[in-house]
Amino acid sequence: MAQLWGGRFTKETDRQVYEFNASINFDKRLFHQDIEGSIAHVVMLAKQGILTMDEKDSIVKGLTGIREDVDSGVLMIDGECEDIHSFVEAHLIRRIGDAGKKLHTGRSRNDQVALDMRLYTRERVLETDGLLKELLTVLLDAMEGNLDTFMPGFTHLQKAQPITLAHHYGAYFEMFRRDRSRLKDIFYRMNYCPLGAGALAGTTYPLDRYYTASLLGFEGPTLNSIDSVADRDYLIEFLSALSTVMMHLSRFAEEVILWNSNEYQFVEIDDAYSTGSSIMPQKKNPDIAELVRGKTGRVYGALMSLLTTMKGLPLAYNKDMQEDKETAFDAMDTVRDCLTLFTGMIGTMKFRRERMERSAKSGFSNATDAADYLVGKGVPFRDAHGVIGRLVLYCLEKDTSIDALSLEELQGISDKFGPDFYEAVALKTCVEKRLTVGAPGSQAMGQVIAQYRRYLKENDIQMG
Ligand code: ARG
Repeated sequence: MAQLWGGRFTKETDRQVYEFNASINFDKRLFHQDIEGSIAHVVMLAKQGILTMDEKDSIVKGLTGIREDVDSGVLMIDGECEDIHSFVEAHLIRRIGDAGKKLHTGRSRNDQVALDMRLYTRERVLETDGLLKELLTVLLDAMEGNLDTFMPGFTHLQKAQPITLAHHYGAYFEMFRRDRSRLKDIFYRMNYCPLGAGALAGTTYPLDRYYTASLLGFEGPTLNSIDSVADRDYLIEFLSALSTVMMHLSRFAEEVILWNSNEYQFVEIDDAYSTGSSIMPQKKNPDIAELVRGKTGRVYGALMSLLTTMKGLPLAYNKDMQEDKETAFDAMDTVRDCLTLFTGMIGTMKFRRERMERSAKSGFSNATDAADYLVGKGVPFRDAHGVIGRLVLYCLEKDTSIDALSLEELQGISDKFGPDFYEAVALKTCVEKRLTVGAPGSQAMGQVIAQYRRYLKENDIQMG
């Protein structure tokens, strides 16, 4: 057991206590960030005359050597050290001797871990943003190709009004676009460097915190040393944004599952993204969509876990905060995998356009348009609503649809019906006449799609 703090102790740590306390098994993920942060720290220490240039050079060489050896597999990160910070420091001292003992000058593991976690989270925010952008690109391509793929729009899972696939996908485009904008906010809010906060009260060394911050690509240093080591808001915000991404993916997954069901048969999921049954040979199951829906719970769980961990903590650092890592890492990995697979599944899924169109035609999804037709003939909307209601009842009794009735049958209910009625309630007309901004008519959709194309070109997060 290599520890950084044996001096004031007379007894060895109990083995089980050591294991319980140790975080190396999971914070080894922060290895690269730890090295990067340490290099920036010593470069700054040398600039400030706190270390000599020789000391700095030897430490930087030692640190890059450790990085190379771990990356190439020559050196293993094992359980010998308590955490990743101890591992790096212990190996540095083993490698370069006394100069290595100066690395931790003017630094605490509290500001060190605060930095490592922030650097790591920042990378994962960018990664998530990139994956969302890929999903948006696939969605937008599909929207462009499906402006006239008709389908029913639903409320209460009952057919409501006809829409198009492009329009329906557009709703998800909006959701994932908002997710990206949340990530951008988080990125800009979190991009301040906690290094130099020390244990909680800064240090007496003349550190240049602005310099370290700029070396590490931050906007500047954080401005309160207590908050710097006690803050995990950025991680809570990220987990919250990830939870929202999962909520969106899960709703989408639920729809894919419905569309893929025997009752709907709107889509055919590609073989590469489906699985079979061990007993029922006819089955092709939407497991990916179901797993995405299912994994949403564990991402929410990570958010709840961290919110609960943080709620009772007095300032500043408490060991409870070590619990921020495992569930957060799991959530980040889960969302990465879900986004990647979901994008692949959507991109290869085939739509059964005739079935979708047939479904849009049944179920009286043109009833609103039928009422609007009567309004056009001077009937007040409330009365028109009543007339079409009676018409629907009549159709239900006869097991037919509004547009299949003869003119005589229609005029039996209201003399305002004329031969132009059929064109007015045709599926295409119902959709195409909806031209307000955000509506499914192809002209309105076309303008929105052009805006989305520009959006995809312009909205990446800018670092530094
Ligand atoms: N492993 C610790 C964590 O993840 C590092 C910080 C330790 N600081 C301390 N004062 N014990 O939070």
